[in-house]
Amino acid sequence: MRRAKLSVIGAGNVGATCAHWAAAKELADVVLLDIPDKEGVAKGKALDLLCAAPMERFDANVIGTSDYADTADSDVVILTAGLPRKPGMSRDDLIATNVKIVRSVSEQVAKHSPNAILIVVSNPLDAMVYTAWKASGFPTHRILGQAGCLDVARFRAFIAMELGVSIEDIQALLLGGHGDDMVPLPRYTSVHGIPVSQLLSKERIDACVDRAKVGGGEIVKLMGTSAYYAPASGSVQMAEAIIKDKKRILPCAAYCEDEFGVAPGKKGEGYFVGVPCVLGRNGMERVVEIELDGDEKTLMDESISHVKDLVGIVRTTFPDLA
Ligand code: NAI
Ligand code: 2OP
Repeated sequence: MRRAKLSVIGAGNVGATCAHWAAAKELADVVLLDIPDKEGVAKGKALDLLCAAPMERFDANVIGTSDYADTADSDVVILTAGLPRKPGMSRDDLIATNVKIVRSVSEQVAKHSPNAILIVVSNPLDAMVYTAWKASGFPTHRILGQAGCLDVARFRAFIAMELGVSIEDIQALLLGGHGDDMVPLPRYTSVHGIPVSQLLSKERIDACVDRAKVGGGEIVKLMGTSAYYAPASGSVQMAEAIIKDKKRILPCAAYCEDEFGVAPGKKGEGYFVGVPCVLGRNGMERVVEIELDGDEKTLMDESISHVKDLVGIVRTTFPDLA
């Protein structure tokens, strides 16, 4: 049986860690690509990872390259190329630089892997998914953004820490963009089926919500650059659901029009927003709509409006992507 092929664009912190998680899971043969100046870094990290295979016991090939020909016919491509934020920066501050990088990478991906499913990670995520969609020309079901898997994992981790119970027993849901206005949903959060509101006070739940919202910033402040273990884990979780056709429901930045009232009735003029969706061999197979109460709807609308503002900046600054 042919092993799946996963290409990771950008061999920096998130990219190399994606290669690590994917290889360790024997998910696919992995191609790690960076710019020509960093070809040595991509090749060196790939070789280092491959040398762990006898100890970690995975059969997966890992190569580094700066040549897109090596990525040809990938099943899934994870796009991590771009600048990360530094202390004091918001994700949105990266927009001008990263649009150019994501545009050129997406064009190359479309040329060399025309049937791939593209998972975008670069920030500001919601604007970069849009950029990748326009630049690749891929149908909307083959473009996804990774944010929700990470953000909800942070929320789950903080709830588990608060309760002193296994992370495995925390189920949670989160919507919206990958900004500090993301929308964790305590009403849809449970601990082995028990609503979290029966186990924690509103104040403690709110503290977990707030910490999840600024979790990325907390890590940037601590280490001077952005997180990568959990972001890469979220990206590989999505790739795994696709490659294994698992039909998992995961929160992803997915294309919405009528869904969640993002752009009702506006055919072809929707936005990529964080929503629960079914991931399988065809990429984004279905958005799962849920009921929101008044407060949740208000928060979701605010988050959607922020995503629209970001995309508006891309459209006005780069008219070819409008
Ligand atoms: P990094 O600086 O460690 O790595 C980025 C890599 O991209 C570098 O090796 C760089 O040479 C490469 N690169 C730049 N231009 C390229 C091009 N045209 N083609 C191929 N490679 C290119 O940064 P890190 O920490 O890996 O973050 C990558 C991106 O992911 C950033 O934009 C960051 O903000 C974003 N991020 C997103 C998260 C999410 O949840 N969506 C979470 C964490 C980071
Ligand atoms: C994070 O949330 C910076 O998007 C990155 O860690």
